[in-house]
Amino acid sequence: MSNSLSVGLIGTGRIGRLHAEHLGHRIPEARLLTVSDVNESAARACAQACGIPRWESDYRQIINDPEIQAVVICSPTDTHAAMIEAAAGAGKHIFCEKPIDFNLKRIDQALEAVARAGVILQIGFNRRFDANFQRVRQAVANGEIGTPHQVHIISRDPGPPSLEYIQKSGGIFMDMTIHDFDMARFLVGSEVEEIYACGSARVDPAIGRAGDLDTVVVLLKFANGVICTIENCRQAVYGYDQRVEVFGSGGSIVVDNNYPNTAVIQGKTTIYRDPPLNFFMQRYLESYLREMTDFLRAIRTGGPSPVPGIDGRIPAVMAQAAQRSCKQNRAVRLDEIQAS
Ligand SMILES: NC(=O)c1ccc[n+]([C@@H]2O[C@H](COP(=O)([O-])OP(=O)(O)OC[C@H]3O[C@@H](n4cnc5c(N)ncnc54)[C@H](O)[C@@H]3O)[C@@H](O)[C@H]2O)c1
Repeated sequence: MSNSLSVGLIGTGRIGRLHAEHLGHRIPEARLLTVSDVNESAARACAQACGIPRWESDYRQIINDPEIQAVVICSPTDTHAAMIEAAAGAGKHIFCEKPIDFNLKRIDQALEAVARAGVILQIGFNRRFDANFQRVRQAVANGEIGTPHQVHIISRDPGPPSLEYIQKSGGIFMDMTIHDFDMARFLVGSEVEEIYACGSARVDPAIGRAGDLDTVVVLLKFANGVICTIENCRQAVYGYDQRVEVFGSGGSIVVDNNYPNTAVIQGKTTIYRDPPLNFFMQRYLESYLREMTDFLRAIRTGGPSPVPGIDGRIPAVMAQAAQRSCKQNRAVRLDEIQAS
């Protein structure tokens, strides 16, 4: 397409491969010119599968390519801030996977580089683009359930990632709950003031030995009075468990899991169905497509970004508050958490 945007993608692992497939095959407004991965064979395999003309092992080839207008960052979290700064410095628009960084000072430096360059930055909080959760937000905003009182978010993975991933992930609050922190802010439309969190390693003691948790409950108190609970576990034997309820003065709205089919098998003593869609790549597939399409639209129309840098920073503050709460066994106010 002549008016399509030229894109480069960095990191062709789990999520990068998915975005590359969308940019290569499902988004006509994009021309994915180059993918890069330190593992060159992964970059080559991704390029060949997605019809992308070039692959590189050094991401700077993408940053320095004058033809590329937008960069999609899908490498591990500890690389994001430096890549955002480099891309902004080169005047590229940026889509960056969550979280921006584990360290608030590094996040602030990266966001300052984006502001200086005047480019669009979108953070990969894809669940905002899920049709079910958008309908919940709409119901809350329209007053369809009256004044919201309580939010309950259940988010459980089908199984834990590798220990290698866990060790680099920044911990469960920064890696996994961060999506639910974002979802809570998105659904309620207000800011969190205080957090209480508790957790343990119930699924795999090795996760505990690695210094992380795999099973947590978090309580959020919002400035507008709403109380929210989040339940996370790294393993639900029946599949990817993603449910939400908002309860208010005029009723409630509920989102159940997504299933591969609607068939229900009824017998004499049991009624059953197939388990939910197994993981994020199936459950949230369409949301990944929509977030990328909206990113490209924001570039074409001059913005604003649908999920700007501040929406990446606040959940990182919440994750740090939850970590502190868990460690110190007390409620932690968000204004206790300072960039350092
Ligand atoms: N939005 C979501 O739902 C979602 C889902 C999964 C992961 N993520 C985020 O995406 C990021 C990547 O996660 P993943 O699960 O795809 O990890 P992954 O380990 O599967 O893939 C990361 C890839 O980046 C490559 N890489 C490492 N350093 C690089 C560098 N300097 N330049 C180029 N490539 C580099 C690795 O070789 C690997 O192929 C993480 O920040 C994670 O939090 C977001």
